[in-house]
Amino acid sequence: TATDVISFSLVKTCLFPFKHSDLGLMEFSEPGIFNYSTLLLSEEKSALYVGAREAIFELSMTNVQWTVAEIPMNMCALKGKSKERDCLNYIRVLQVVDDERLYVCGTYAFQPQCDHLNLDDFSLEGQIEDGRGKCSFDPSQSFTTVMVDGDLYSGTAYNFLGSEPIISRYSQSRSLLRTQYSTSWLNEPSFVFADVIRGGKSRADGDDDKIYYFFTEVSVEYEFFGKLLIPRVARVCKGDLGGERTLQKKWTSFLKAKLVCSMPELNFVFNVVQDIFTLKGAEWKDTVFYGVFTSQWGNVGLSAVCAYNVSAVEEVFSKGKYMQKATVEQSHTKWVRYNGVTPSPRPGACINNLMRLQNINSSLHLPDKTLQFVRDHPLLEDPVLPIGNKPRLITKDVNYTQIVVERVEALDGNTYDIIFTGTDKGMLHKSVLFEGEVHIVEEMQLLKSDEPIKNLLLSSETRSLYAGSDSGVVQSPTAFCSRYTSCQDCVLARDPYCAWDPKSRTCISIFDAPSQLVQSLRGDADRCPSGMRL
Ligand SMILES: *[C@@H]1O[C@H](CO)[C@@H](O)[C@H](O)[C@H]1NC(C)=O
Repeated sequence: TATDVISFSLVKTCLFPFKHSDLGLMEFSEPGIFNYSTLLLSEEKSALYVGAREAIFELSMTNVQWTVAEIPMNMCALKGKSKERDCLNYIRVLQVVDDERLYVCGTYAFQPQCDHLNLDDFSLEGQIEDGRGKCSFDPSQSFTTVMVDGDLYSGTAYNFLGSEPIISRYSQSRSLLRTQYSTSWLNEPSFVFADVIRGGKSRADGDDDKIYYFFTEVSVEYEFFGKLLIPRVARVCKGDLGGERTLQKKWTSFLKAKLVCSMPELNFVFNVVQDIFTLKGAEWKDTVFYGVFTSQWGNVGLSAVCAYNVSAVEEVFSKGKYMQKATVEQSHTKWVRYNGVTPSPRPGACINNLMRLQNINSSLHLPDKTLQFVRDHPLLEDPVLPIGNKPRLITKDVNYTQIVVERVEALDGNTYDIIFTGTDKGMLHKSVLFEGEVHIVEEMQLLKSDEPIKNLLLSSETRSLYAGSDSGVVQSPTAFCSRYTSCQDCVLARDPYCAWDPKSRTCISIFDAPSQLVQSLRGDADRCPSGMRL
């Protein structure tokens, strides 16, 4: 079978995962409250904000057990609806507006609503806004948001049934901007992530900041028996104001491309993106998107991690070939490469210095030809390929749901990407890429029960991971160095966070003591002081 053939390239998981009960993790949950799936970290305020069903909590980042503040959000108990089904308010948006306020949206009994949360006294301002397009109607509908300079960018459904997908921007100062309602723009998408990549000011070409969206949708470009899912990256420009006549109040910069995460030699494709993490570097060009993928054919039981350079993504959007709809025979349409002349300026491009020289200072000045073209050709033919043209990690018999990555400088002076992946059974895998090969350093039962990890965040400051699930929030250190009691165990763990301290004869975090420590990511235990082996 397919799984047997590819098992050679799979990463072996540890034989003895850390048990939840042995780890002494900090956990938080309140009786009667469920669905702790919206998390927001504020390092300035040392707080973890948690959106759950019917409640918002402010927890201390250093100890999630301590409830700092709570707001009950059960808003419609009096309307005479069945509380179980209709009246529940699931908090799905928590975004920072400024130092004093968060923007909060909930499903509010299938009529999404938003408000501002004052952080001083942890109270709602009570100026309720329509949450349509900002938050999903149904708590189980896929959905993503990101706040950029006070504007809320979201990807969600615009109606109760979830049949009208929308990527939109809500702004105090600019008018609403949204996607065209058309299957060539969005075709039954499941949104997983959105983020901004800034670079505007440092770029010689005067190009704009961009917001990237990641989702899985039903393909239009492949002929397939049934629905073939395709993982996508789409992007819009921050300065987009829509078109003057064509694409009025619609994105003029919406383009999308296929994300490839596959093993070409075996013809195996991971076609469902579950989560994305943005690993930011010193400059925008150093940004890497890490994604976890599974397959539409879930019975295969394989998960993969693929990484993409932001420059590879940009290259496709700025130079890639467009696809177009062609009619073959009577009613049958097919998407093929567009080989004609593309209008200038390039359809979907952000406003840059070159366009400004032609007196195009905003999207409102773009010529109709460019706008009509991008409206009809939002899909690029060229796919975005992962770094190394293959997955960084493939794991068998797990379904990854979440990913976070931290870049750490080990004692050898090299930097390593440490990949944390959460599963649908509450497990956490920690893996490290070393000399082109990934190995799993640790495997642990992060959640008490075997439920999915719904959200995963990392703070370098507290050296902690925070996981949200239906039943609570868990805080875990990023490393458990002290669990390795001998130099050999410490070194053989090959954990970039941990090293052996010969003085205290303990395995400690490399951040704790800059003295003469022993570490070898190759797993070379001969480096241990002699006479110390156990
Ligand atoms: C909320 O949590 C409950 C209890 O664990 C679970 O049964 C339900 O599916 C969750 N709902 C959503 C929308 O996640």
